[in-house]
Amino acid sequence: MTPAEARLDGKRVVITAGGGGIGAAMARRFSEAGARIALCDIDAAAAEAVAVDLPGAIGLGADVTDETAMDAFFNAAGAHLGGVDVLCANAGTGGPVAPLAEIDLADWRACLSVNLDGAFLACRWAARRMGPQGSGAMILTSSTSGLYGVPTRSPYVTAKWGVIGLMKTLAMELGPKGVRVNALCPGAVEGPRMDRVVAAEALARQMTEAEVRALYAEGTSMRSWVTADEIADMALFLASPAGRHVSGQAIAIDGHTERMT
Ligand SMILES: NC(=O)c1ccc[n+]([C@@H]2O[C@H](COP(=O)([O-])OP(=O)(O)OC[C@H]3O[C@@H](n4cnc5c(N)ncnc54)[C@H](O)[C@@H]3O)[C@@H](O)[C@H]2O)c1
Repeated sequence: MTPAEARLDGKRVVITAGGGGIGAAMARRFSEAGARIALCDIDAAAAEAVAVDLPGAIGLGADVTDETAMDAFFNAAGAHLGGVDVLCANAGTGGPVAPLAEIDLADWRACLSVNLDGAFLACRWAARRMGPQGSGAMILTSSTSGLYGVPTRSPYVTAKWGVIGLMKTLAMELGPKGVRVNALCPGAVEGPRMDRVVAAEALARQMTEAEVRALYAEGTSMRSWVTADEIADMALFLASPAGRHVSGQAIAIDGHTERMT
């Protein structure tokens, strides 16, 4: 990859759930590479706080499960950026941690809604623009949970497999029009989200949090966790000219998962 191929100068990037974690890391990385950013987050203050540090960026409050709110965000993003070249459909929530037999329908639906309805609404909006313009890149955030089964995480696992199905299908629909679609499969990412997941799993499995954290690392060949910046680096590669012929792929950034916890 040449330095020029890693640049996204003038490209218009839309990111969901960009107010923290992986989405915020993506926003910063894309901005450093020269892109202009519009991001949303259910936490409007968090979205604004990320955007304010990025030249020409906007950050707005919107819940990815709310079609009306997302329409408003997409209209604002499209007007601000003048179009879209890159979509990061990144929003996701971990959902309940319990055996399937104990999961409420409402909790199941809430998890699928953020992960799948959110990706659907974002991808549909981008498809309606990228298809006719004959270019663009979509990057959906799945998970290593979209590649394996994980006891006590059935809603999240189901949703993240669904994200990969959506990605595969969109890559086929839009590839002939010059649009690439890929999915990221992060492993366990250092940060507050996994701190919450570890705490819930420790409770559900009657283990200490340190034991759960160690299990995540031991399940990978590299015996490691990953960082949000590493996920953002892969997103940048996929969005950039360097990734010009990468489409339809679910790419793990995880130190090679051998088994899930
Ligand atoms: N953190 C991990 O270890 C990990 C691993 C694999 C996959 N993922 C996936 O990566 C993506 C980002 O995860 P993260 O760790 O950055 O998450 P996070 O929990 O840190 O949340 C990031 C942001 O999402 C926002 N958000 C939550 N629900 C939302 C909604 N309904 N609408 C809009 N914004 C919402 C939050 O306010 C927060 O600012 C998700 O799809 C997640 O499933 C994360």
